[in-house]
Amino acid sequence: MAAPAAHPTETISWWREAVIYQVYPRSFADSGRDGEGDLRGVTDRLPYLVSLGVDALWLCPFYPSPQVDGGYDVSDYCDVDPRYGTLADLDALLAAAHAGGLRVIIDLVPNHCSDRHPWFTAAVAAGRGSPERARFHFRDGRGTDGAEPPTNWRSVFGGPAWTRVREPDGSPGQWYFHLFAPEQPDFDWGNPEVLAEFERILRFWLDRGVDGFRIDVSDALIKDTTWPDTADGSPVIPKGDDGGPHPIYRAFRRVLDAYPGERAAVIETGAPDDVVALFLRPDEMHLAFSFRFLKAGWSAPAARAAIEDTLAANARVGAPATWVTDNHDTPRSVTRYAADTALAGAYVPDAVAGAHLDLARGTRRARAMAVLLLSLPGAAFVYAGQELGLPNVDDLPDAVLQDPVFVRTGGEVRGRDGCRVPLPWSGDAPPFGFTADDAAPWLPMPPAWRDLTVAAQDCDPASMLALYRRLLALRRSEPSLRTGTVTWLDAGPDAVVIRRESEGGRALLVVVAMGEEPVPLPAGEVLLASTPGPLDGVLPPDSAAVLAVAS
Ligand code: NOJ
Repeated sequence: MAAPAAHPTETISWWREAVIYQVYPRSFADSGRDGEGDLRGVTDRLPYLVSLGVDALWLCPFYPSPQVDGGYDVSDYCDVDPRYGTLADLDALLAAAHAGGLRVIIDLVPNHCSDRHPWFTAAVAAGRGSPERARFHFRDGRGTDGAEPPTNWRSVFGGPAWTRVREPDGSPGQWYFHLFAPEQPDFDWGNPEVLAEFERILRFWLDRGVDGFRIDVSDALIKDTTWPDTADGSPVIPKGDDGGPHPIYRAFRRVLDAYPGERAAVIETGAPDDVVALFLRPDEMHLAFSFRFLKAGWSAPAARAAIEDTLAANARVGAPATWVTDNHDTPRSVTRYAADTALAGAYVPDAVAGAHLDLARGTRRARAMAVLLLSLPGAAFVYAGQELGLPNVDDLPDAVLQDPVFVRTGGEVRGRDGCRVPLPWSGDAPPFGFTADDAAPWLPMPPAWRDLTVAAQDCDPASMLALYRRLLALRRSEPSLRTGTVTWLDAGPDAVVIRRESEGGRALLVVVAMGEEPVPLPAGEVLLASTPGPLDGVLPPDSAAVLAVAS
């Protein structure tokens, strides 16, 4: 193995106020000609991320995988899928990122693996009652000949959460549990072998120099193994101190803390704020996405409630908040904000389908939301392409859709491919520099993206990219944008007006106009606005500004 990449040396808790850029490797940049992004493509484009001004990147799964669920079906946790490159490419990426001052966190998928993972194929082959089966949830079925699943639980992706195997002698056999697709069997975290294996996996990557992890489906590792039927088929998943997965995260934390350089983890959980906070206690994980904020959509009262509740819950355990509006599971916010319906969460990407879309309005609102996102205390995530103002691609032909949700719901839910279309870098026509000109990107790119390429936006001071660069630079120079207190000022139901103050920083106001009417601007020096042109004392609807004000 190559020597671990050199580590950035600061001793502050970098993760407490980091801006982390999410890279979906398949869609970021293709250094070859196969139409799929790869790790060398990411390394080649690191100067772009450095000039953008983010602190770190999160790499979505790049592990060997049959790609049934975009790589969240891992068949080997300690290698790189050949479609993305090699371990040497990953080492090179880490070294180049660290040399550029960027940290790198990677996805950890502990809830389930691929049905091609050697543990699972061994479990199927080994038969009933074997130690191999004890690493997963294998159960006998109910009813005549065990032909009915052990519970009525439904999978997140649609259909039953149980699939029946054939026993080694060819007879119809036991059932195994999968919270997601049948090709994603859940580990049994009640078996200590599973924790030991994941501790090994964590150390494998920490030894290579990664700065931390984003932990997939982190709150669902433990199931109620009395397997009760439920009224609506929802799985029963304990998340609290009584039977929940907290001992697992304490063990993970001990592994991370044994390494220098403040290795950190961000967890993915849709649990209520007070439950999320349990995972953020000082001896558990570091950050948790605020999906409340993502789901607040374009609504001042919902945004305020999400911000206040997240901050209050996290403050009780001394953890910073983590703000996010976009990711690879959710329709892009330009499109969500373009619709009249303001809400759209993970796994319901079709919430905006059929709604009247005004993309110019969605773009104005996404610009304003970027100001709010990057002006709140704590960490923030930016999903690749968000800084370009990409809309969701809602007209992908059925034949190219790859999300298992599409097939498992019989085409009823189109799935998440629309937010995973490759990034446009340059040029006037697809593939816009994403891959070789004569190669086909793995999802088709809209010709209209010629105006949204990095090259097209690079020198345009009015572009979304320019706004993100200015915002990130302002966030670096103004401590009160990254840390400190949030005080709400009353400006009516359709505006967010918050005062931001921190020790050592100057007082700032962040104003977001979320209604139909302009919002009068308080006295102060406008440092940045989401709209081009002078403001003249009022903020137009669908816009935001940051002002320096008297202390
Ligand atoms: C959450 C991931 O973000 C999503 O893409 C994936 O399908 C599920 N977890 C299952 O791993």
